[in-house]
Amino acid sequence: MEILELNGGTDPKLCEEILDRIADIDRGVFGDSAWGRTAFAENVVNDYDFLTAAVDKTDGSGEVRDLEGCEVCGYALLRCFDDAELIMIAVDPLFRRRGIGEMLLEGLIGEAKKREAAGIFLEVRESNEAARAMYENAGFAVTGVRRDYYHAPRENAVIMQLRLH
Ligand SMILES: CC(C)(COP(=O)(O)OP(=O)(O)OC[C@H]1O[C@@H](n2cnc3c(N)ncnc32)[C@H](O)[C@@H]1OP(=O)(O)O)[C@@H](O)C(=O)NCCC(=O)NCCS
Repeated sequence: MEILELNGGTDPKLCEEILDRIADIDRGVFGDSAWGRTAFAENVVNDYDFLTAAVDKTDGSGEVRDLEGCEVCGYALLRCFDDAELIMIAVDPLFRRRGIGEMLLEGLIGEAKKREAAGIFLEVRESNEAARAMYENAGFAVTGVRRDYYHAPRENAVIMQLRLH
C-alpha cells in the first residue's frame, strides 16, 4: 500500500483517473453528503489543501503493477492554514480494518507538521465509533460538541484536536 500525494507532481492523466475513483468511494460512503468530484479537482490545485490516495499496486498474485493499473482504496483531505483541519478521510468498505485509515491519517499529520500547523482539528459524528477510535489512537482529544450539527440523520458533532506545536 502506498500513499500518493495528489497536490502537484502526479501525472495529470493519472491524477484524473484517481480523482474518478476517489469520487466513486466518496459517493458510496457518504451518499448525498458526498464532497463530489468537482470539489476534489479544486482541492488538488489549492496550495492550502492536501489530498492523498491510498493505492494498492499489487494484483491478486502479488505482482506489482504500474500506478495506472492500481487500486484506489481510500483517500484523505487536509486543509492547512495556521491550524489544519482534517476535512475527510474514508476507506472503501472492501479494504477496511487493514490499517489503511491509520496510514492516511499519519500522512496528514506528517504534512501538518511539515507546514508547521499549530494543530489539527476535525468534526466527527458522535456515533462514529470507528473514526473516533482511530483519531484517539493517533492522539486526538475531544475539545467540544456542536449540537445537531449534522443532518440526515440529525446528530451532534464531536470536535477533536491534536496539538502539534
Ligand atoms: C474510519 C475509517 C476511515 C477507518 O479506516 P480503516 O482503514 O478501516 O481503519 P484502520 O484499519 O486503519 O484502523 C485504525 C483504527 O481505527 C479504529 N477502528 C477502525 N474501524 C473500527 C471499527 N469498525 N470499530 C472500532 N474501531 C475501529 C481502531 O482503533 C483501529 O485500530 P486497531 O485496528 O489497532 O484496533 C473507515 O471506517 C471509514 O472509511 N469510515 C467511513 C468514513 C468515515 O466515517 N470517515 C470519518 C469521517 S470524520
